[in-house]
Amino acid sequence: MRLEHFDHRRHASKPFSSGNEVMDQWLRRFAKRSQRDSLTRVFVLVEGADAKVGKLPILGYFALSMASVEVGSLAVTDRERLPRYPVPAVLMTRLAVDNTRQGKGLGRALLVKAATKAVLASEMVAARLFVVDALDDGAARFYENFGFARCPDDPLRLYIGLQRLSDGLK
Ligand SMILES: CC(C)(COP(=O)(O)OP(=O)(O)OC[C@H]1O[C@@H](n2cnc3c(N)ncnc32)[C@H](O)[C@@H]1OP(=O)(O)O)[C@@H](O)C(=O)NCCC(=O)NCCS
Repeated sequence: MRLEHFDHRRHASKPFSSGNEVMDQWLRRFAKRSQRDSLTRVFVLVEGADAKVGKLPILGYFALSMASVEVGSLAVTDRERLPRYPVPAVLMTRLAVDNTRQGKGLGRALLVKAATKAVLASEMVAARLFVVDALDDGAARFYENFGFARCPDDPLRLYIGLQRLSDGLK
């Protein structure tokens, strides 16, 4: 299995189905444009060689953007030693695994890959937090498994120190 930049000419977004319409529709309808406009970078997990005919099936995907987070949106204990201006972050706007492959560790593997990319990016442009917007409470619990904390006033937005995430996933 390998991670590739999403390319609508090579990767089959139409058959992708995570069971969540928001995730599936976004990949089909908006991922191409969002990348083109530099709003997100989209990465897909694929396996096997390029087919002679047709496109490669997508096993899972995630999308990353730069973001900033108001200090006041964090838990009080996480505000310590932070200045009063917005904190730089990497935002994972999307993460989904095809439903034929769920429950086999691919969600975790994609999160590790996203964290690795975020750490690499932060070596050039600082980012302190890794932030995710969960679709629902189930998705939020998925992230809590990995040590993410919920924003007190927005429980579907979760965050973790980027370094801590990277260390914890090794
Ligand atoms: C959430 C999702 C990405 C998880 O992917 P996956 O490949 O099934 O997850 P993994 O097999 O890697 O599971 C990793 C861990 O998370 C746990 N987990 C998976 N889905 C979970 C959920 N909905 N709630 C709580 N925990 C969950 C697993 O039990 C596993 O824990 P373990 O390591 O202690 O066994 C996948 O179910 C999906 O695409 N769902 C639809 C879209 C979605 O909700 N995306 C979330 C981002 S908003």
